[in-house]
Amino acid sequence: MKNLLVTGGAGFIGSNFVRMVLAEYTDYLVVNLDKLTYAGNLKNLDGFLDYPNHKFVKGDICDGKLIEKLIDQYKIDCLINFAAESHVDRSIIAPKDFIDTNVTGTLTLLQAAVDRKIKKFVQISTDEVYGALGAEGKFTEQTPLSPNSPYSASKASADHLVGAFGHTFGLKYNITRCSNNYGQFQFPEKMIPLMINNALNDKELPIYGDGLYIRDWLYVYDHCAAVWKVLIEGKKNQVYNIGGCNEKTNLEVVRIILDRLGKPESLIKHVKDRPGHDRRYAIDASKIMNELGWKPSVTFEEGIVETIDWYLNNKTWLDNVVSGDYKKYYEQMYKGR
Ligand code: NAD
Ligand code: DAU
Repeated sequence: MKNLLVTGGAGFIGSNFVRMVLAEYTDYLVVNLDKLTYAGNLKNLDGFLDYPNHKFVKGDICDGKLIEKLIDQYKIDCLINFAAESHVDRSIIAPKDFIDTNVTGTLTLLQAAVDRKIKKFVQISTDEVYGALGAEGKFTEQTPLSPNSPYSASKASADHLVGAFGHTFGLKYNITRCSNNYGQFQFPEKMIPLMINNALNDKELPIYGDGLYIRDWLYVYDHCAAVWKVLIEGKKNQVYNIGGCNEKTNLEVVRIILDRLGKPESLIKHVKDRPGHDRRYAIDASKIMNELGWKPSVTFEEGIVETIDWYLNNKTWLDNVVSGDYKKYYEQMYKGR
């Protein structure tokens, strides 16, 4: 297995994954297919675009002919699907985009993978497919799927399709379900980079509802290392949960950011809640830890400092992504909230 088709490799997690593979696994060819939506950014691949074993292709995962052509042309062995519409708030405003890419796009990839006899298909899913938790318990791989947002419903649909293609057509696959990622190159619609950007600009930090919603935070490098483990060593047709063991309330996260940036807590503003907001996510990642020997390498306290410092040191990247359409998005999402 040497030739990889990575989809969504110009987005946040996908670009970190492509960088990792090109830097650490130099005998692999990475064909990187990305539509370059608002969330895709070639700047995320700065310094790696011209690597001889990296072929970037602008295109849509819904384009079956293109997928087949790439698989044939580059003799693709394995496909790793990061491409998605990924933001819950946008899925509440425009759910159809999520069905198109996350469901129809995944179906298109699966069809091509079966037709071309791909050796393994890795679907990057999310803990949100399991729904929400109360104060106790964690999601295991046996937790029934119970998605609550249009985003998570589209991801759960994709997971079911992957399982069905394994069962019906003999596709070899793995599904990974991870918790909230943070780190370099995350688009500032997601909470952590949005709060960093606002704090840097002395703008209010919009906390949804009471701010006591809990997420488990996973450093993006740890996530990429886990996906690699699953790609290389994952057992046939298994699901693996990936978590950071870092449960925090949103208010705790925002206070850490303000403290690091030396900004006052008075910037925090409680705003109208997200409709259908899941109260708590927590991951039991013991399967990947015990079976594949993966574990997170950093605590949240370490990873968040590195992340904040990255945004401080990459102001040009940040200023570029918050110009243009981002301003319209921010107005639509937060004005009068
Ligand atoms: P992102 O929004 O930053 O990047 C998505 C990428 O997919 C972008 O580069 C975009 O251009 C590309 N894309 C979108 N539609 C496409 C299409 N039709 N064809 C080809 N490319 C297309 O997302 P992310 O945060 O990097 O998430 C990557 C994957 O991980 C997603 O599948 C997401 O559901 C999953 N995930 C993310 C998180 C998280 O915390 N960010 C957590 C769990 C799971
Ligand atoms: O759990 C995995 C999921 O994590 C991924 O599947 C999604 O792709 C990813 O976007 C993320 O979803 P969340 O909805 O948890 O992430 P987000 O960064 O949008 O929000 C994190 C928490 O912060 C959530 O409780 C909502 C809250 N929030 C978010 C924003 C953008 C705020 O309070 N204010 C905000 O402005």
